[in-house]
Amino acid sequence: MTDNPASALEQDQLDAAVSAAEKAFESAADLNELATAKTAHLGDKSPVLLARRAIGSLPGKERADAGKRVNVAKQAVTAAYEARRSVLEAEEAERILREETVDVTARTPRRRTGSRHPVNVQMDRIADLFAAMGFTVGDGPEIELEWFNFDALNIHPDHPARTMMDTFHIADTNGEFGSNLVLRTHTSTVQIHTMLNQQPPIYTVAPGRVYRTDEVDSTHSPVFHQTEGLVVDKGITMADLRGTLDHFAKALFGAEAQTRLRPSYFPFTEPSAEVDVWFAEHKDGPRWIEWGGCGMVNPRVLRACGIDPEVYSGFAFGMGVERALMLRHGITDLRDIIDGDVRFPAGLRVEE
Ligand code: PHE
Repeated sequence: MTDNPASALEQDQLDAAVSAAEKAFESAADLNELATAKTAHLGDKSPVLLARRAIGSLPGKERADAGKRVNVAKQAVTAAYEARRSVLEAEEAERILREETVDVTARTPRRRTGSRHPVNVQMDRIADLFAAMGFTVGDGPEIELEWFNFDALNIHPDHPARTMMDTFHIADTNGEFGSNLVLRTHTSTVQIHTMLNQQPPIYTVAPGRVYRTDEVDSTHSPVFHQTEGLVVDKGITMADLRGTLDHFAKALFGAEAQTRLRPSYFPFTEPSAEVDVWFAEHKDGPRWIEWGGCGMVNPRVLRACGIDPEVYSGFAFGMGVERALMLRHGITDLRDIIDGDVRFPAGLRVEE
């Protein structure tokens, strides 16, 4: 370049401008560098643009030829720029794809924000345990006709057990059911539903929610859970009951667990017994713990369900779910189980 504007129009000057531009564009490593090179070689003060401005100062007859040559040079510079730009843009797109790809299969550290309720986990465990012995898993309604909760279980209206059980009564105000309704006070109602729906052999277990008008304290709640067990078949004896309870206790409390039956009374079993379990890991030292009730199904109950007690016999048992859970995990306050604090179950080994 010289100070003389017209010299910018000399062909060798134009050729030099074009090859300088091509070199600059080619060596631009990315779109930023290319933008800088563009200003230098296609901007207002670039050689080709200055050359175009110089055309005006030429004598008229030379202008057309100079104009053509400048245009050819400018087109060459522009083409070199466009070619480099499309190469760099393609590289850039590829880089973004490569670097910003989201691997949807990548593992992320996941934090557990809750868990199933320990009572439900415990009831599922119990159901699984009995299912493995060939039992079916039954259930029944939580709102019951009094007949299912009491009469069919040989608990008559004047029977003390009927008032001792602290029942929630629901008035049948529209006379729809012809009987008062209650919230079931025990899962023994499922015995009746099962025997009415199914002929022996019956091997069934029924974990579920029950209700009693108890005040809430560290060992009582008006809503709690029981597990019922019922077996009706030919030749069932108390030895079958003991064996089943023993297996149940060992599965729930550990291999050293033992059971003990103490004579008791339930209207729907005869004979009846309380089941104690030997709990070696009790925080106050090894001891017998009251676990539930059991007995041979009373023939009157079998008859009420249309089963011939001369042909069939059976056993039944019922245990509190929360009680076993508290024992097993050293929980001293029942309210911890029902408060719903999500931090509570975190320390329990209930999902093993
Ligand atoms: N239903 C009894 C209760 O809630 C327990 C029980 C069940 C007793 C089955 C005997 C047989 O106390």
